Amino acid sequence: MFAVYCEKPDDENPLAALVVGERPEPETPEGWVRVRITHASLNRHDIFTLRGVTGQDSPIPFPMILGNDASGVLDDGTPVAIYPLITGSDRTGDETLDPHWHVLSEKVQGTFADHVVVPRRNALPLPDELSPLHASVLGTAWLTAYRMLVTCSGLRPGQVMLVQGASGGVSTALIQLGRAAGMEVWVTSRTAQGLDLAARLGAHRGFLSGETLPRKVDAVFDSVGESTWTHSVGSVRRGGVVVTMGVTTGRHVTTDLLPVIVNQLTIRGTIMGTLDEMRDLMRLVVDAGVVPEIGSVLPMERAKEGFRDMIEGRMQGKTVFTR
Ligand SMILES: NC(=O)c1ccc[n+]([C@@H]2O[C@H](COP(=O)([O-])OP(=O)(O)OC[C@H]3O[C@@H](n4cnc5c(N)ncnc54)[C@H](OP(=O)(O)O)[C@@H]3O)[C@@H](O)[C@H]2O)c1
Repeated sequence: MFAVYCEKPDDENPLAALVVGERPEPETPEGWVRVRITHASLNRHDIFTLRGVTGQDSPIPFPMILGNDASGVLDDGTPVAIYPLITGSDRTGDETLDPHWHVLSEKVQGTFADHVVVPRRNALPLPDELSPLHASVLGTAWLTAYRMLVTCSGLRPGQVMLVQGASGGVSTALIQLGRAAGMEVWVTSRTAQGLDLAARLGAHRGFLSGETLPRKVDAVFDSVGESTWTHSVGSVRRGGVVVTMGVTTGRHVTTDLLPVIVNQLTIRGTIMGTLDEMRDLMRLVVDAGVVPEIGSVLPMERAKEGFRDMIEGRMQGKTVFTR
């Protein structure tokens, strides 16, 4: 079948590790279902996979089809969105706390292909009001943003949230969800285009990256890592929270602990989200009429263009590959 995959990772030149070609059709294990992919969205995780970087304790078994997220159709014709997180079979409760969880494209093949197989519970029937295009971005960036905002931040409507780095998938999701949830949304971006995009999506105020804010905020949402960390910790009010979940610019930071102690800050890490959170997110998107920002839609054969834009930092919302 057609597939976009990584034959052998390349840490220095991830684009060189990307292959657009053919891979074997997957077998469908007992209790799993086969999904014919119609839409699949790109995440920075796919770049990390091309570089051979993984948060798992075992190496990625290459060749590996890329892609965490997708929507598509089951063999019986049911349209579905994919929940990308796979747990040990007997897991109950919060899936993200399972020591054995992984996402598609880490241990099992990913979604940038004609077909993917997933455990039956990971294929969520699409409500009529949710298009497969928009459903295809929810599983990773949007789910993570939902959990950051709803589960981790403790924010109430009316409070001020700062999103570091406006243009990317998680950030645009945070802006749109924050606005829908009644927060006052502030953003930073390296570019004027990023700030324009954020304003169009509903952000109340925008600042160039690193700029001192007019006042401290209730919560900061940081997916950027090294280059924004000091600004994040310095921008939150006493008793506020910094929610961290991404290391796009690096993961080794230096933190002055005294302000953390004196200001009684909470630094909260988070990763992905639960199946229940994914269901709630889908309902929220439908009920609140939120339309996830899709910056680019490309046929899957042209996946390399989408990868290049992400590597070169030209993202404007999510990129979706169609099949
Ligand atoms: N913990 C989790 O569960 C989870 C889930 C999803 C993603 N992530 C992680 O979160 C991060 C963001 O993911 P994403 O898919 O949203 O990525 P993305 O779409 O590529 O977004 C990258 C963001 O970083 C900002 N940025 C600042 N400095 C940058 C630089 N030097 N190069 C590139 N971007 C820079 C960009 O904002 P401006 O251009 O506006 O400045 C943009 O908003 C990644 O590290 C990813 O691995 C974690």
